[in-house]
Amino acid sequence: MMGLVNRALLLLFFPCFLLAFRGTSSASLEHDRSTYIVHMDKSSMPKAFASHHHWYSSTIETVKSNHDNEHQSSPSLLYSYDHAFHGFSALLSKAELEALKRTSGFVSAYNDRVVTIDTTHSFEFLSLNPVTGLWPASEYGKDVIVGVIDTGVWPESASFKDDGMTSVPTRWKGTCEAGQEFNSSMCNSKLIGARYFNKGVIAANPNVTLSMNSARDTQGHGTHTSSTAAGNYVEGASYFGYAEGTARGMAPQARVAMYKVLWDEGRYASDVLAGMDQAVADGVDVISISMGFDDVPLYEDPIAIASFGAMEKGVLVSSSAGNEGPDLGKLHNGIPWVLTVAAGSIDRWFAGTLTLGNGLVIIGWTMFPARGYGKSMPLIYNKTISSCNSTTLLSQVPFGVLICDDIGSYGDQMSSLSSTTAIAAILIADEIMESSSFTYPGVVISSKDAIAVIKYAESDTKPTASIKYQQTLVGTKPAPVVASYTSRGPSPSYPGILKPDVMAPGSLVLASWIPNGFAAIISSNIYLATDHIAISGTSMACPHASGIAALLKGAHPEWSPAAIRSAMMTTANPLDNTQREIRDAGQDLEIATPLAMGAGHVDPNRALHPGLIYDATPQDYVNLLCSMNFTQNQILTITRSTTYTCSNVSSDLNYPSFIVLYTNSSDGVFFQTFQRIATNVGDGAATYKAKVVAPKGSVVTVSPETLVFEKKYEKKSYSLSVRYMGDKNETVTYGSLTWIEDNGHHTARSPIVVAPLVSVW
Ligand SMILES: *[C@@H]1O[C@H](CO)[C@@H](O)[C@H](O)[C@H]1NC(C)=O
Ligand SMILES: *[C@@H]1O[C@H](CO)[C@@H](O)[C@H](O)[C@H]1NC(C)=O
Ligand SMILES: *[C@@H]1O[C@H](CO)[C@@H](O)[C@H](O)[C@H]1NC(C)=O
Ligand SMILES: *[C@@H]1O[C@H](CO)[C@@H](O)[C@H](O)[C@H]1NC(C)=O
Ligand SMILES: *[C@@H]1O[C@H](CO)[C@@H](O)[C@H](O)[C@H]1NC(C)=O
Ligand SMILES: *[C@@H]1O[C@H](CO)[C@@H](O)[C@H](O)[C@H]1NC(C)=O
Ligand SMILES: *[C@@H]1O[C@H](CO)[C@@H](O)[C@H](O)[C@H]1NC(C)=O
Ligand SMILES: *[C@@H]1O[C@H](CO)[C@@H](O)[C@H](O)[C@H]1NC(C)=O
Repeated sequence: MMGLVNRALLLLFFPCFLLAFRGTSSASLEHDRSTYIVHMDKSSMPKAFASHHHWYSSTIETVKSNHDNEHQSSPSLLYSYDHAFHGFSALLSKAELEALKRTSGFVSAYNDRVVTIDTTHSFEFLSLNPVTGLWPASEYGKDVIVGVIDTGVWPESASFKDDGMTSVPTRWKGTCEAGQEFNSSMCNSKLIGARYFNKGVIAANPNVTLSMNSARDTQGHGTHTSSTAAGNYVEGASYFGYAEGTARGMAPQARVAMYKVLWDEGRYASDVLAGMDQAVADGVDVISISMGFDDVPLYEDPIAIASFGAMEKGVLVSSSAGNEGPDLGKLHNGIPWVLTVAAGSIDRWFAGTLTLGNGLVIIGWTMFPARGYGKSMPLIYNKTISSCNSTTLLSQVPFGVLICDDIGSYGDQMSSLSSTTAIAAILIADEIMESSSFTYPGVVISSKDAIAVIKYAESDTKPTASIKYQQTLVGTKPAPVVASYTSRGPSPSYPGILKPDVMAPGSLVLASWIPNGFAAIISSNIYLATDHIAISGTSMACPHASGIAALLKGAHPEWSPAAIRSAMMTTANPLDNTQREIRDAGQDLEIATPLAMGAGHVDPNRALHPGLIYDATPQDYVNLLCSMNFTQNQILTITRSTTYTCSNVSSDLNYPSFIVLYTNSSDGVFFQTFQRIATNVGDGAATYKAKVVAPKGSVVTVSPETLVFEKKYEKKSYSLSVRYMGDKNETVTYGSLTWIEDNGHHTARSPIVVAPLVSVW
């Protein structure tokens, strides 16, 4: 129920961010051309060609079909890809595609797809501070480059000023591409690159006129995500008076490079691939991608493919889990070689203070984007109209503050209220607020607080009330809470790795926005703009994790993407700020499972010193791919290199978490063993002991139970076995393994999940 209300509000506010596009846009007629993304085996390129680009153009020329006399056009090359993977995208007819499949070097091809995108005080909530920990250790991410794949950037935003930045790292190979309302001098030593990729959107919509044919953001999403990851300091930022303070990104000294791949006119995989490919070539250290493809296998998921190449080059890809919660098994980007980020709340409350004529003061919730009428007004409680869902009845309310009963849909009530003559409303709801949409003056109070308000309104002869808006409280508890909208695992594309990996702040995150865009509505027709906005989504959680990954890269340049992810996961906190287990807003505040939040809430300062890491090489991921039921070409589509072999097939990746997917076995017991290798990244000799919290219904055995390291970087292996004897009836249980150093300095915790292997996963 709660989830539905919140979803309705999120949708109301940002329909474009939450629309789910699925499947493919397929060519209707046999001879009509549509865009295909084609993977080629570069090692098959004949020596005659000077470059892969020539080879691809020539290949396309050879498949040109005879029907061209009708069309007067040729199949055309959109992009050649050579960094994250090898291949190209091209406009081809079905016949040309078939011909292409018979040419030498062809690996695989699929139709271009449309992509789903997901939609400051969080640094304090994450305990980032100038005195100790990750900020000073990484010099705030100095010289780390974060590539953001998104809707573009508003270069004039104060978040992208380069005050206090040193000169651009010489290894940087990117550029500041000029285009509509965007010239090459709009980059600086903060925003060091900006490029745009529009061939896919144009190919799919041949007559389209792009409303902004450049890296300039027309939606706000990319400006928000990039400023969240690595924005500079902006004093006096707020969202219409809420969340006021100095805004900054997670890695305020890191560099931002924007790759615009999403357009108002459409979002296509070929453009996404081109952007990721170029980011790797330009030399970014971290890729932040707050979008995903739903319902696609790994070998057809552009993000999975491009991120494999990024991972090989040491680039960590941080991605959003999606906004399809709270049902299980809806997550996207459940890719074994990326970081998959879930969203949670921040310890912040946007308050409206309700003061009654009898002196009672109640702190409610409001994000009404204006000051509102703050004086004392008559308080109205009239049972005929108090369901606040009849626009007819609401149009004749006398001057005053109207009390609305809890009918389980305060969002609907709020939209009905746009027709009322009342001055403000008191709404009643018991839920974690996840949307900034607040279209009518008023406050939301709890049903507990409502008792006294209604009692006063009914008993006093002249009840009055006043409401004060635009207040922000921090330190509120409990926090974080898992957001109802965040997509849950297991990952449909590969359930055998527990996803998401970690949770980061995603709800009502304040960051930069495009100043000419729409940022809030009052009533149904008053549109407001602002240069900072507080919005919610895994899109907002992802850049927090990307910024933290950039800081870790700055502090530990030698760490692989797997090591950075491991450090973030094994130090993540499963407890909230009341020191109890994190709750789930999508499950009536029940205890959250790792399928919702992964290992827990990211803890950047602890991630700096994880003690142990679980590393993985590209070959380890290939060993995992070889265990999946994929054809050789499907595997090659991802790995692009015939130098990898399937000689060591293994579904047991050295991952910092465990998931057992049980099936009914004859004797009623399900048994699975995992092998892990832990690397000591502490300062020297160290001894760790295992502490297990077994999932209900399971017995967990760790062997050996003590790991003795003599020096830094030494590796030790251990095995973990899960014997599940519980009900095989769709229940999900969970526990953990924690390696605790004898001196207590480091602990490395891994979640353990036991879940049924259900076909939809
Ligand atoms: C780029 O645009 C800015 C602002 O419009 C202008 O001041 C500047 O001269 C332009 N630079 C170039 C190289 O065109
Ligand atoms: C594009 O424009 C041309 C010429 O105006 C027209 O013939 C054609 O039907 C249009 N195509 C689409 C897909 O709208
Ligand atoms: C309650 O509202 C109804 C409908 O507008 C109105 O007819 C009635 O007079 C109101 N009652 C009081 C006590 O004001
Ligand atoms: C208004 O809410 C009341 C109480 O929940 C309900 O009985 C009624 O059907 C609702 N009316 C409309 C128009 O939704
Ligand atoms: C493996 O793939 C083959 C061929 O695509 C298919 O027939 C079979 O059902 C798959 N097995 C599983 C366990 O998915
Ligand atoms: C396969 O595993 C064996 C034993 O662990 C190892 O010696 C060998 O190098 C591995 N081969 C590949 C290709 O990873
Ligand atoms: C499923 O398992 C749970 C937990 O063990 C149990 O409470 C429940 O009754 C079981 N349901 C069915 C339909 O067997
Ligand atoms: C296992 O068997 C039980 C009883 O037949 C059934 O209810 C349950 O759905 C099965 N679970 C799985 C994961 O197949």
